[in-house]
Amino acid sequence: MGYIGSHTAVELIESGYEVVIIDNLSNSKEEVLDGIERITGRRPHFEKLDLVDQERTLEVFERHNDAIGVIHFAALKAVGESVENPGLYFKNNILGLVHVLEGMESSRIPNLIFSSSCTVYGEPDTLPVTETSEIKKASSPYGATKQIGEELLQSEVKAKGDKLNVISLRYFNPVGAHSSSLIGELPLGIPNNLMPFVTQTALGILKELSVYGSDYNTPDGTAVRDYIHVVDLAKAHVSAMQRLENKNQEEGYEVYNIGTGKGISVLELILAFEKVTGETVRYNMVDRREGDVEAVYANADLAKTKLGWSAERDLETMCKSAYEWEKRYRE
Ligand code: WQD
Repeated sequence: MGYIGSHTAVELIESGYEVVIIDNLSNSKEEVLDGIERITGRRPHFEKLDLVDQERTLEVFERHNDAIGVIHFAALKAVGESVENPGLYFKNNILGLVHVLEGMESSRIPNLIFSSSCTVYGEPDTLPVTETSEIKKASSPYGATKQIGEELLQSEVKAKGDKLNVISLRYFNPVGAHSSSLIGELPLGIPNNLMPFVTQTALGILKELSVYGSDYNTPDGTAVRDYIHVVDLAKAHVSAMQRLENKNQEEGYEVYNIGTGKGISVLELILAFEKVTGETVRYNMVDRREGDVEAVYANADLAKTKLGWSAERDLETMCKSAYEWEKRYRE
């Protein structure tokens, strides 16, 4: 029940699904269940489990063998940490996925949604990226685990035939929080990602934001990303689950870009944030961050055609909701 998982649980419950959450709580808190319950009026079932533990994973999956599908969010995701400790990333992200597949097989659960990432594209040659754009060498072990995860799933689907159906969602940059401000992003310690750094700087928790790189070949020199509201992203999972449940897939393994299609620079995001919140974000231009790409944004047409999904929330809503969540959380 991390950031994306908690928002997806809310959207699933509001669409009539019953939700079981599995988490080892390594990067999340059990209190998130209270937030989900307050928003939806229903408390998801919870199983504390580390997916690296094969035996217990099979046990827990067997207990829930009536499930129609699994959404596998559980992974480590700090790019820098993955460079320092690659073994940890491969163990958690790959072994965890293998055990999920084993659990699904032994409990006969046929449908899986996998959290992939735009990081699989590396530094793209042409923009926007489509699902058929080249998969470049990953710039970090974290990125490699997402590429390998996708490859593993593709091979598994081939091997298992109609016993396994998978949709990989390639997330662009999720930001923002639920409109209730009852759930949101909760990074441990000093944030790595831009939006939590911005909200904490605005509220005076952090002194100053470093803008990594002002000499990129982009309109204002700062790096460009496709920021997507986490609630829109959560809704993409509901659409994907419905496609799996209704057996509407055209292929046993499908991949979708989940972004807005708009490239936004770091400076544009800061300015939009200041405008919508009335706060000042102190920032300073510094060198590029190692491993960052210059620009990446999605062509999300396929998700629109096949999943009937597209992003609806704009940059202002993303900034405002992130700010409201951070403020409420600090109170
Ligand atoms: C966005 C932009 C930074 C912090 C990574 C992963 C991706 C996804 C999200 C999982 C970049 C700049 C940032 C700061 C800055 N995965 N920035 N100052 O790097 O695009 O994506 O996280 O979680 O797979 O690769 O996201 O939010 O870290 O950075 O200037 O203090 O903001 O350089 O251009 P990123 P981000």
